[in-house]
Parts: sequence; structure tokens; C-alpha cells
Amino acid sequence: MPVILVQHSLVSDGLARLRDAASGTAKFRRFLRRVSAVLIAEAVRDIPLKKVSLNTPLEKAQGETLDGACVVVVPVLRAGIGMLDAFIDLIPFATIGFIGLKRDEKTFAPYEYYHSLPGDLSRSVTVILDPMLATGGSLVAAVGLLKKNGARDIRAVTLVAAPEGVKEVEHHCPEVRVYTAAIDRCLNDRAYIVPGIGDAGDRFCGTI
Ligand code: PRP
Ligand code: URA
Repeated sequence: MPVILVQHSLVSDGLARLRDAASGTAKFRRFLRRVSAVLIAEAVRDIPLKKVSLNTPLEKAQGETLDGACVVVVPVLRAGIGMLDAFIDLIPFATIGFIGLKRDEKTFAPYEYYHSLPGDLSRSVTVILDPMLATGGSLVAAVGLLKKNGARDIRAVTLVAAPEGVKEVEHHCPEVRVYTAAIDRCLNDRAYIVPGIGDAGDRFCGTI
């Protein structure tokens, strides 16, 4: 799996503001959305286009537009919801699915409590949104579920990844491309990414 580290001044700026514990809920939401837009733009850089004929104010012309029918976005609840508006801003006609995953506080293994996915994903570009790639368990579980639904072209957009999680995803899902703003130092003894941004779901939902 190539992990693509997206380098962009807007990403660096937004990530620093997201890391800052003094950033409250409203600021966290604003910057998560802003950084996500840049990461998502990279993740969909090569998705299929279709040729179109159009009329400019002056003459007939040819162009290429996104083939919206093939784009599926899947935010992982809860924190992935914080990236969804950015995706819809860029691709308003994308189909949306949801996966609800929660880590067990002791084992750190994810358990699935909800999913709602469009039917056959075999002809789609499926983009998972989840800001945190910590142990990698949640992303591996999300990819497994999407593959069961036929997905073949799967990409993931995360904000911060831990080296441990990157290794786990590389091992289990080598075909998935992961776009991230940062690969941090390591996990702590509670499997939180350090320096990280803390609990992304709680910070986004305002439940800290
Ligand atoms: C967070 C995060 C990922 C997961 C990453 O969700 O949004 O889904 O942890 O950890 P992993 O790589 O070790 O699996 P969490 O389980 O805290 O749920 P929440 O978003 O509802 O708070
Ligand atoms: N989930 C989070 O929200 N943050 C982490 O650092 C790890 C998992």
C-alpha cells in the first residue's frame, strides 16, 4: 500500500491548529473540513472522467467531467463525519455509505455497530474517510466490509497515521492507497497516536 503524505501549506497550517488542545469544537470542525478538502482532492486526483460536448458562449467545445455515478464515499462514524462535508463540496453527486466502528477500550479492537452501504461496489471508486489511523484495526475492518460488498478500487483519507497502523494496513490491505497529512511518532499505552490530535471523535462531536 502506498501511503501518500500530502504536503501542502494549507494542510500544515490546518493540522497544527487541529493538534492544538486549545482549539475548541467549532475551530476543530472548521479546520478538519478545510484540511480534508486538500487531502480528498489528492485522493481523487485520477478518478475517471467522461468526455462531454458543451457550448461556451462563443462556440462548441469538448471537455471532461467527473463520472459521478462511480464515486462512493464512506465516512467511518463518528470522526469520519467531520470530513464528509469537504467531500460533498468537491463531489456533490457522490453516493454515501456509512460504517460505524468503535474501539474496545481494553483490547483496542474495533467492533462494528452499524453499516449502510450502497449495493455492488465493484465498479466504484470507494473512498473511506476517517481522520485517525492508529492501530489500523478500524481501517482494516472497514476495507474488509467494503470488499465483501465488491469494492475493488478503495482509497482511504486520514489526517494522522501511526507507523504501527500503517504497517497493519500494509500487511492486510496492500492494495489500498492511504492519503494522510502526517505519520506521527508512535502509539501510547492507550493506543492513542502521539503527538496526535487526541480523541478525534470526541473533539469533533464536542463530547470531551
Ligand atoms: C477512532 C478513529 C478511528 C479509530 C482508529 O474511532 O476515528 O475510527 O479510532 O483507531 P485504530 O486505528 O486503532 O482502529 P473511535 O473508535 O474512537 O470511535 P469514535 O470516532 O466514535 O470516537
Ligand atoms: N482514535 C483517536 O481518536 N485518536 C487516536 O489517537 C487514536 C484513536
